[in-house]
Amino acid sequence: MSSEEESLFSIVALKKWFSTRTGLLDSILGKQEYVRAVDEISFEIKKGEVVCLVGESGSGKTTAARLILRLEDPTSGEIIYKGEDIAKAKERKIRRLRRHMQMIFQNPYESLDPRMTVYDVIAEPLQVTKLFPKSETSQRVGKALEDVGLIPVSEFSIRFPHELSGGQRQRVSIARALVLDPEFIVADEPASMLDANTRIEILNLLQDLQAEYHMGILFITHDLAQARYLGHRIIILYLGKIVEKGNIDQVIQNPHHPYSKALISNIPVPDPDAKRERIDIEGEIPTAINLPLGCRFAPRCPFKFKRCTEEEPELMLKEGRYSACWLD
Ligand SMILES: Nc1ncnc2c1ncn2[C@@H]1O[C@H](COP(=O)(O)OP(=O)(O)OP(=O)(O)O)[C@@H](O)[C@H]1O
Ligand SMILES: [Mg+2]
Repeated sequence: MSSEEESLFSIVALKKWFSTRTGLLDSILGKQEYVRAVDEISFEIKKGEVVCLVGESGSGKTTAARLILRLEDPTSGEIIYKGEDIAKAKERKIRRLRRHMQMIFQNPYESLDPRMTVYDVIAEPLQVTKLFPKSETSQRVGKALEDVGLIPVSEFSIRFPHELSGGQRQRVSIARALVLDPEFIVADEPASMLDANTRIEILNLLQDLQAEYHMGILFITHDLAQARYLGHRIIILYLGKIVEKGNIDQVIQNPHHPYSKALISNIPVPDPDAKRERIDIEGEIPTAINLPLGCRFAPRCPFKFKRCTEEEPELMLKEGRYSACWLD
């Protein structure tokens, strides 16, 4: 097996159900309800691979990422990290493993401590983890700043977050993640709060850094154009379930699942003359409580038939990708 194909994470039937608040009587009567935020999902992330997790708001993307980083305990399932199941690992072990995994958040305005200089923000993970000798701190911070394009380093090091633009702040978040030389990064909508030009710059930067550092990235977005730009493989989530997964170009060029088709038909086409049929799906994404019998997308699916409301489809392999639809 080449290093490109080596597995970093193997996620098996991962599940997170949150219990909703119910009254005492309901609990006694066993009427506890659950939000099935992540409902038995399985997928692989290989070393140096960008896997995009796509889906509407509430589909379980952030929860899935938080489970993988063990910021949240799974209800059940396996999180195999380099051959070892860490789904039930204890806090001490998790803390040790987390040094190799970092997260970049959506909001560059909230994720940085306003009282810390850029230098301190980036140096902090080095100080907390003590992963590298103290004498290397300034050189490592400098390298991270250079890598994210915040130069001259001496000028940016002494600034505070409020003295930076949104794009620059996001570069600081990326530098903070990179400084530990991670092998895995979760980027949760890292570019969605930025204007269009800055968004492209940040995506370009992530692409360059991914190649340079050979990191595995779980890139979370609801924007398929961003996913296609950066990703090698795609996972499309709907109400906590994977509806389709596979090679990103294949899935985007020829989606199988009606939900994927609808999402993809709504990607803006740069050429206004290019004809593409838009598939509109009715209604909003419901919450993952009291899910319907059968396929959870059926209530909004323009192609549903009887079986869809009776039996839940499992992911099936066809033409090199998996999709969970009775039409397939
Ligand atoms: N701590 C929690 N307690 C209860 N329910 C939760 C909790 N965290 C998430 N949920 C619920 O789980 C579901 C999935 O949420 P999640 O944040 O993972 O979705 P998402 O795909 O990241 O959405 P968005 O695109 O809006 O960020 C939602 O219905 C959400 O309300
Ligand atoms: Mg989210």
